[in-house]
Amino acid sequence: EKLPPHVMVLFGATGDLARRKLFPGLYKLARAGRLPADYQVIGSGRHSPGSDEEFRDQVRKGLAETVGDLDDDLVAELVGRVSFQTSNADDGADLAEAVRTAEQALVGGDDVSDVRRLVYLSVPPSAMQDMIHMLGREGIAERARLVIEKPFGLDLESSRELDAALKDVVDEDQVFRIDHFLGKEAVQNILALRFANGLFEPAWDAQHLTSVQIDVPEELGLEGRGSFYESTGCLRDMVSTHLSQLLGFVALEDPGEFSADAVRDAKAKVFADLQPLDPAKVVFGQFEGYRDEEDVAEDSDVETFVAIEARVDNDRWRGVPFYLRTGKALAQQRRTITLRFRTAESLIFGEDPGPNELVLELTDDPQVLIDMRAKRPGPDMELAEATMRMDFSDAIPGADPLEAYERLLLEVIRGEQTLFTRSDEVDRLWQVVQPVLDSPPPLQTYAQGSWGPQAALDLPEGGWRLGRDDD
Ligand code: BG6
Repeated sequence: EKLPPHVMVLFGATGDLARRKLFPGLYKLARAGRLPADYQVIGSGRHSPGSDEEFRDQVRKGLAETVGDLDDDLVAELVGRVSFQTSNADDGADLAEAVRTAEQALVGGDDVSDVRRLVYLSVPPSAMQDMIHMLGREGIAERARLVIEKPFGLDLESSRELDAALKDVVDEDQVFRIDHFLGKEAVQNILALRFANGLFEPAWDAQHLTSVQIDVPEELGLEGRGSFYESTGCLRDMVSTHLSQLLGFVALEDPGEFSADAVRDAKAKVFADLQPLDPAKVVFGQFEGYRDEEDVAEDSDVETFVAIEARVDNDRWRGVPFYLRTGKALAQQRRTITLRFRTAESLIFGEDPGPNELVLELTDDPQVLIDMRAKRPGPDMELAEATMRMDFSDAIPGADPLEAYERLLLEVIRGEQTLFTRSDEVDRLWQVVQPVLDSPPPLQTYAQGSWGPQAALDLPEGGWRLGRDDD
């Protein structure tokens, strides 16, 4: 694959995301020979980490902490392409100059029209708009693909302002709104499972299913991200983004082809049918001890847990509730989608044998499971519960999975937008959550290591799959 020379500008280059995900992602792409032959990386931010050499040291250290089995030559080669230039929303002249210099160095001359710019904006929502204006003013946005980190605004109004700022400066095909869940192998597998098998899709509707659960509990607490969390909260951090995107993939109609337009049209259609949330069907929780965390207000009402019942009002899904749950400091770290089937109609075994469940484990060792009943081997016609389990690493040996950020960086370099969210999707998802932002449900506390407030446990009819018998 011949890729044009790239200048990559990483805003927030000294931050946590760059250290934990972006530089490791670039390293792994380099190791797999998937980066362009010619590229340079300019880290940027308001505060300088010191000289270029000091910045490189920081990158080197970050790689050593996050990637196992480092190849020293490869690290040296990657880090040798890295430099740092301070900038801020008011002043980007030096950065613009640094970008031009890097481009000329890459092509060895003045005709830099073939060089592509990748500008990664890992900056808080409050700073995003001004940064985008700066990129426009300084000409940095020309020939650029802009990668925008979530949340895209903080409500419907601010997201529309952000979108207007983007449209002033670039075209939609230059905007890559990142939702890293879409970079996960197991999430893309939802499409493979549904549309490459004759078995599942015919049963993927209200006639066969009684409910869908999208359950993403996290064991982790704040991890030092108190000030970020205070300004976003769980609903914006996880629900209107990652969990809604999972819902989109589960619920969409056959896109007809695997292209950016087709997949995103199908997803946008689901979101158009997704009903604005009813605050009476939303549970907000906060873990005990949250208010004692660093950078958290003593009387903070920010939610660290959300459970909701959502409805998709179309022919396929009318009558099937979608239960979404996520939160910090919970009992387990999981990403699990459960489709619950209607019970069998036959009465030959007497009483109602109970539902089947198809379970997609999107955790780092992805699995697909089907809970079913079988005859218990033995003299009598008795039923037993049994689980059919497919483990990807066993079922498809020798595969070469990509980490989410690694994949998404590669997709940006390729200019492939299928796994990025489009402006209309984001707008609709803010419309869907806006009623809850306007009248949030009462906040309930929960014990760390639990499954959240009691009210959330009672939300789905038949209960949640996770935590049911501590499986
Ligand atoms: C991030 C959120 O986008 O996703 C975090 O900001 C969350 O709060 C994380 O912990 C979860 O992602 P993953 O890939 O670790 O499941």
